[in-house]
Amino acid sequence: MNKRVCIIGAGPSGLPAIKNISEEGIFVVAYDYNHDVGGNWIYNEKDSHSSVFETTHIISSKTLSQYEDYPFRPEVSDYPSHEELRNYFQSYAKYFNLYRHIQFNTLVKSCVRLDNGQWEVTTIKDENEHVEIFTDLVVCNGHHWEPKYPNYSGKFTGDFLHSHQYKKAAPFANKKVLVIGGGNSACDVAVETSRVSTKTAISWRRGYRIIPKFLMGKPTDVFAIKMNFLPIFLRNLLAGFIAHINNGSNKIYGLPEPDHKFGATHPTINSELLYKIRHGKIKPRVEIDRFEGKEVFFKDKSIEKFDVIIACTGFVLAHPFFDKKFLNYSEGPVPLYLKMFHPTYDNLYFIGMFQPLGCIWPGAEQQSKLAALALKGSWKRPANIDVLCEREVTHPHMKQINTSRHRITVDFHRFIRDLKTQINKIA
Ligand SMILES: Cc1cc2nc3c(=O)[nH]c(=O)nc-3n(C[C@H](O)[C@H](O)[C@H](O)COP(=O)(O)OP(=O)(O)OC[C@H]3O[C@@H](n4cnc5c(N)ncnc54)[C@H](O)[C@@H]3O)c2cc1C
Ligand SMILES: NC(=O)c1ccc[n+]([C@@H]2O[C@H](COP(=O)([O-])OP(=O)(O)OC[C@H]3O[C@@H](n4cnc5c(N)ncnc54)[C@H](OP(=O)(O)O)[C@@H]3O)[C@@H](O)[C@H]2O)c1
Repeated sequence: MNKRVCIIGAGPSGLPAIKNISEEGIFVVAYDYNHDVGGNWIYNEKDSHSSVFETTHIISSKTLSQYEDYPFRPEVSDYPSHEELRNYFQSYAKYFNLYRHIQFNTLVKSCVRLDNGQWEVTTIKDENEHVEIFTDLVVCNGHHWEPKYPNYSGKFTGDFLHSHQYKKAAPFANKKVLVIGGGNSACDVAVETSRVSTKTAISWRRGYRIIPKFLMGKPTDVFAIKMNFLPIFLRNLLAGFIAHINNGSNKIYGLPEPDHKFGATHPTINSELLYKIRHGKIKPRVEIDRFEGKEVFFKDKSIEKFDVIIACTGFVLAHPFFDKKFLNYSEGPVPLYLKMFHPTYDNLYFIGMFQPLGCIWPGAEQQSKLAALALKGSWKRPANIDVLCEREVTHPHMKQINTSRHRITVDFHRFIRDLKTQINKIA
């Protein structure tokens, strides 16, 4: 049967999927509700798909954040800005002539798997619905755009927003700002608002190790490559030790000590947070208990007034085009082989739906190459794929704390190696 492949999304994960699958001579249509390629990296001051803000630079360095088929230009900075990344993704699409496969400003509204196994895909463009049938579906819709909100008792009567809605610091000038979370969004946002606010505080519900962006003059992920020959647990032990040598104990900053081993939470990489705390620009706070008007009651019994709360509490894995009864990864385990192959539906692929301790799109590129081989029929799904899918859940690359953001973690280097092993079976 002639393949007709539908790809949802033309962001950093969708682009290599379009490239590698179409290069096999397979018919591909990609839909994206944005007006150009780049996904999250198309900064927009209005509420949009993107969750980046005016000053976002990536946390994975350019050396480890490039497609193997399309390196960065040498003048790109060590940690590229959203603007540099948008340019990179757009020039990738131009270089490989991918625009001809993409229908922009087109929302994928629903995907239904028919009794014959094919996909009925309903799209909306300019308020017009359109239905098409495809043999295969490749999902690259991203996983950092649907806000996950925290729940507290009481009502906060100041402004309450999520990091997805935070675009720049200027509106927070002369405001008392409370940032919730200890991930990369929280620390970046707190640093930015602290430049203009009357007061910025950051509330952590546990202690984290803050990793600097540079070690001995090298981007930290480049520095860490030297430790790659070690097993993951030893690498983590050493990395935790180096972070401690660099920062000292969290107590010095008034922050809670980590309650977990290094690697047991997604790494927070920030060279300014601790500096700002020691300069009195950011005030560490413990977990929130409840709200009353503009007052925030913290778990250590302290009470403080704020004008604005910015919840940097992460994102939900969302696939609104699937009926929730058909597929729902918004909570619970995500049993997919190599984070991409479904145990039952052999014509459904996920690209980029994993959280590396590093950059997403080099892994998405390898997944795309494997998906292309599978679609061509040269790579065969293992007979025991259901067992392998379960194994991904029971044997993650590293043991992490049980919170919703830690369900799809992979070790960057091991994940790429595992994908290449499968790809090289065909070569
Ligand atoms: C502030 C911030 C900083 C980050 N920094 C890093 C970093 O340093 N390194 C890193 O690797 N990752 C980082 N990330 C993670 C980010 O998810 C990835 O960088 C990258 O954007 C993932 O690419 P993607 O294509 O999978 O998803 P996205 O970039 O989200 O792209 C998904 C695409 O799908 C389209 N789409 C979605 N749903 C539909 C639909 N129903 N119909 C049609 N089109 C649809 C969207 O328009 C979009 O173009 C960061 C995330 C945030 C929020
Ligand atoms: N500059 C950059 O490149 C940059 C900037 C921002 C984001 N990112 C990336 O974007 C992705 C998302 O990052 P993120 O920081 O937005 O989200 P995240 O990694 O999911 O972190 C969310 C944080 O909020 C905490 N949290 C969640 N629910 C909470 C609740 N109910 N109450 C209190 N705290 C709660 C989490 O705690 P637990 O530890 O308990 O889970 C965690 O500290 C990550 O891949 C990140 O690396 C990169």
